[in-house]
Amino acid sequence: MTDHKEFVRELLSRRDRPSRCFLHSFGCQQNVSDGERILGLLCEMGYTVTEDITEADLIIYNTCAVREGAELKVFSLVGNLKNLKKKNPELIIGLCGCMAQQEKNVEKIRKSYPYVDIVFGTFALNELPRLLGTVLTERKTAVDINEYPAGFPEGIRPVRKNGVSASVPVMYGCNNFCSYCIVPYVRGRERSRRPEDIIGEVKELVGSGCKEIMLLGQNVNSYGNTFDERVSFSELLRRINGIGGDFRIRFMSSHPKDATRELIDTIAGCEKICKHLHLPLQSGSDRILEAMNRKYTAEKYMEIIEYARSLIPDFSFSTDIIVGFPNETEEDFQETLNIVRRVRYDNIFSFIYSKRTGTKAAAMEDQTPEEDKKRRLQELLRVQREISSEGFRRFIGRTLTVLFDSEEKDGTYSGKSDEFIIVKAEADASVIGKMKRVRITEAYNWALKGEII
Ligand code: SAH
Ligand code: SF4
Ligand code: F3S
Repeated sequence: MTDHKEFVRELLSRRDRPSRCFLHSFGCQQNVSDGERILGLLCEMGYTVTEDITEADLIIYNTCAVREGAELKVFSLVGNLKNLKKKNPELIIGLCGCMAQQEKNVEKIRKSYPYVDIVFGTFALNELPRLLGTVLTERKTAVDINEYPAGFPEGIRPVRKNGVSASVPVMYGCNNFCSYCIVPYVRGRERSRRPEDIIGEVKELVGSGCKEIMLLGQNVNSYGNTFDERVSFSELLRRINGIGGDFRIRFMSSHPKDATRELIDTIAGCEKICKHLHLPLQSGSDRILEAMNRKYTAEKYMEIIEYARSLIPDFSFSTDIIVGFPNETEEDFQETLNIVRRVRYDNIFSFIYSKRTGTKAAAMEDQTPEEDKKRRLQELLRVQREISSEGFRRFIGRTLTVLFDSEEKDGTYSGKSDEFIIVKAEADASVIGKMKRVRITEAYNWALKGEII
């Protein structure tokens, strides 16, 4: 691997100006985090990062396959690159990530987008230097979608856009095979990073001024299952909480089937962990949950919520919900709304079911008309808007801790509270990257406003 890196570095150093790479990641935070590591690898080989796609010598789209919409978007963007390639035949175009891992997509790329130079899957990150070397010297398409058994490479220094809030993967892959989901097919089985590697990375980030660590995994609650001597996710959280410094800890996602009381106790007992949990419900109907292979019931789900709220009455929850799973009836959907009303989420991410070839649900007959699915999604969004605008009012008069990260169009500044809610306040640019106490004065249905104290 080092030889391939050196080889590319040598080739690039012969050019009369630095070579620039542009990378965009689609999909979940795991994919964004992979993208940061790919950029790190490219920088090691001598590339500099550009945000301007038109000046790039290398363009990489790091793709997502979770819903059909995500795939269509990438194909349309790749179609647009044809013109850039015409103008600059030296331009190298690469596709990687979850879509690229699928044979059918590789075939489509070969056939319809022959100007794509590199295709590599989620297992082949270590192979990127070799693939680049091939393209740079032989100008022929290089593809690698093998499922390499070795884990994700350690030792790459990720290139992060944001130095204030950083994602740190704790595990890769997924073993759950929810019947609708493509992720286990494109990401392979669970592999956990060693605790010392994770803790080393967190210490370094905190040392360089990072204020928020987001631990990532498709199901963080099964962290460490592959180790001989098991370190549970709760144990990992406690160790990270023990790292000195002023920072906060978040994590996602938690599968409800593995969310234990120990996890909730750990959140409650560790001062750096945000009192917020993203706990994907998917459906409130036991019949649908079973067909989804989720391995919990709506009541089991509610037990976790109620236990958390018995310790911390204001515990904040967010969730993912799929409407229109094959043969979801109106009654099933009403059960989902029922749970949404009982939990009173601060935020939900809702999706219309998208058929993914190769998954179990793709073979299920589906009688639910598209119109009904769209209507259910609108209904769910309406119910949630009411809940969050009412729920957000509970914060008026209270003081929240906010990590500021953006300037708003109206000249105010905003960031996320511990509860993962957007909070706006009058401030100046020096507030960015800082954690401030904010007294809440107003509640909208998507955010809060307050005064920095
Ligand atoms: N591992 C994470 C989720 C990863 S995918 C977890 O289990 O929480 C993110 C979300 O996309 C899922 O929670 C689900 O709500 C949604 N999703 C996954 N497959 C989908 C499909 N085929 N159609 C619609 N939404 C889907
Ligand atoms: Fe997909 Fe289920 Fe795994 Fe999440 S837990 S990635 S929804 S299979
Ligand atoms: Fe998409 Fe892959 Fe994430 S399919 S949601 S980018 S794991």
